[in-house]
Amino acid sequence: MSITVRDLRASKGRGERFAMLTAYDFPTARILDEAGVPVILVGDSLAQNVLGYDTTLPVTMEEMLHHTRAVARGAKDALIVADMPFLSYQTSIEDGIRNAGRFLKEAGAHAVKLEGPMVELAATLVERGVPVMGHLGLTPQSVHAMGGYRVQGRSEEDARRLLDQSHALDKAGIFSLVLEGVPTTLAQRITEAVSAPTIGIGAGPHCDAQVLVLTDLLGLGFGAYPKFAKPYADLRSTITEAVTAFKEDVEAGLFPDDAHSYH
Ligand code: KIV
Repeated sequence: MSITVRDLRASKGRGERFAMLTAYDFPTARILDEAGVPVILVGDSLAQNVLGYDTTLPVTMEEMLHHTRAVARGAKDALIVADMPFLSYQTSIEDGIRNAGRFLKEAGAHAVKLEGPMVELAATLVERGVPVMGHLGLTPQSVHAMGGYRVQGRSEEDARRLLDQSHALDKAGIFSLVLEGVPTTLAQRITEAVSAPTIGIGAGPHCDAQVLVLTDLLGLGFGAYPKFAKPYADLRSTITEAVTAFKEDVEAGLFPDDAHSYH
C-alpha cells in the first residue's frame, strides 16, 4: 500500500519509528521499495554521491528532476521526497512555488524538502497542496555560512534558535522535519516539542525516524565517512572484486567460456 504523509504523521502518535533512505536512480529505488523502506529522499547529495561535485551547491533543478523521475519509476509504494536544490527556492516565494510544483507535476515526487527556516514558503506550499519536509541544524547548502560541516546548536542560544525555528516550521504545516548534525539532547527537545515526526541524521536516537545517505550505508563512498554514518555493507570492495575478476578473466582468455556462448 502506498505511504502517505498522513501515515507518517500518524506514526508519531503511535510511537512508531520509520526509516528514510536516499536514492538517486531506478534500480536502487526499486530495491528500497521492495525492502519496504517507506520514504525515499532524492537528496541533493546527488551532487557528491552521483555527479561528482564537491558540495551540494552546484546541482541544478534539471539534474534533480531527471533523477527524481528515475526514482519515481522505480518505487511503487514509498513516499518520494525531492530535495529542492540551492537557489531554486531561496530567491523568492514565486520561484519556490514554481520549482516545488515541477517536482510533483513533472517528476512524480509526492513532497519536497527545504533546508533552513523557510517558514513563509513552507506555509505557502502547504496551502497550495505541496507537502513539505523541513530540514534544520547542519544544512549542507549553507556550508560556507556555517564555516564547514559543523554540528549546530551546541550553545544554549543556538539551541533555542533551532527550537524556535522548529516550532515555526511545525506551525507552518510541515509533515516531517530532518534534524541533521545536532546534539542528541537538542534533537530530543525538538522531537518532544513538535507535532511533525523528526527524522535524525547525526542527531542521536531520540528522533521519531532516521535517515542515512544510501552511499554511506552501502559502503560506496570515497574518503572518510561522517561519524554518524554506519556502513552496513562494503559494496565498494564487492564491486572492485567483481570488475577485477572480469578484467583478469578477459585478459586470460577465460571469458566468455562455453556456458556463456551461443551455438
Ligand atoms: O541530500 C541529502 O541526502 C539529505 C540528507 C542528508 C537528509 O538532505
